[in-house]
Amino acid sequence: MEKEQLQVEIRKLARDRKALILAHNYQPPEIQEIADLVGDSLELSLKAARTEARVIVFCGVLFMAETAHIVSPDKTVLFPAPQACCAMASMITPEDVRVLREKYPGAPVVTYVNSYAEVKAESDICCTSANVVRVIASLPEREVICLPDMNLARYAQRHFPDKKIIYHQGFCPFHDTLTPEDVRRAREAHPGALFVAHPECRPEVIDLADHVASTSGMLKFCRESEHREFIIGTEVGLLYPLRKQNPDKKFYPASEKMLCEAMKLTTLELVYRALETLEPRVEVPEEIRKRALRAVKRMLEIPRG
Ligand code: 13P
Ligand code: SF4
Repeated sequence: MEKEQLQVEIRKLARDRKALILAHNYQPPEIQEIADLVGDSLELSLKAARTEARVIVFCGVLFMAETAHIVSPDKTVLFPAPQACCAMASMITPEDVRVLREKYPGAPVVTYVNSYAEVKAESDICCTSANVVRVIASLPEREVICLPDMNLARYAQRHFPDKKIIYHQGFCPFHDTLTPEDVRRAREAHPGALFVAHPECRPEVIDLADHVASTSGMLKFCRESEHREFIIGTEVGLLYPLRKQNPDKKFYPASEKMLCEAMKLTTLELVYRALETLEPRVEVPEEIRKRALRAVKRMLEIPRG
């Protein structure tokens, strides 16, 4: 089937199934085009929690589909590309969290949503890149454990000079490859362009940024800015919505190395087949889901900035 025909068939099938199609901002263009909502991790979790649809089709990576099931266990959560796993999410285990708790008794555990349900189940509250500062601000304790992303934790630390943020050694292999040298090279090639970075970038890269935000925060900043040119310090998939929303502005990747293969595994064929067969599904075991829900729910209750 031609791409456009397949897209029409998917939309038809989604209507018949009363399905909601959610896609992350890094998904391939043809997937973003068929989604009911394209967003960052926080927007997608909120939508999954509040939808009245019977079926959620999650186009993203596994931890995102798991989060949808954690907040909406009565829905069928379809995950068309089951091999799509976030490399950072595998960098921490529940045992790592227990060890950190023993080492820092009394320090609450703030877990980035880029983690598996078993790890969320060991946590006090979750966060995303969009709300990490608000989440930590809601905690009275002076010592806070923030995991698994050491770059996100160190970014958060900048906002809390009076707190000690303890971190684990996880990182995103794609954001962590971006170096100050890459940024300098991009600035030389595009003088006058603003440099916008994701908080998963290294501290020395964050130091060079004109603005730091989640993927949807970056979209908002570029939409509202009077500047015309931007160097983008995140996964290259974000260039598609940026260019679509701002046809009169120019966007340059800070580095072509920032390509998350897992985010590109979703295809129209897989989405169609998932809607047709209502498989493959993501279901978090109930005992883990209930414990993980406490941490996710506590995050979702924090007012949006
Ligand atoms: P956002 O929540 O900012 O979309 O980030 C998710 C992600 O995986 C970044 O690499
Ligand atoms: Fe995970 Fe990095 Fe891919 Fe985001 S870009 S899903 S953090 S591996």
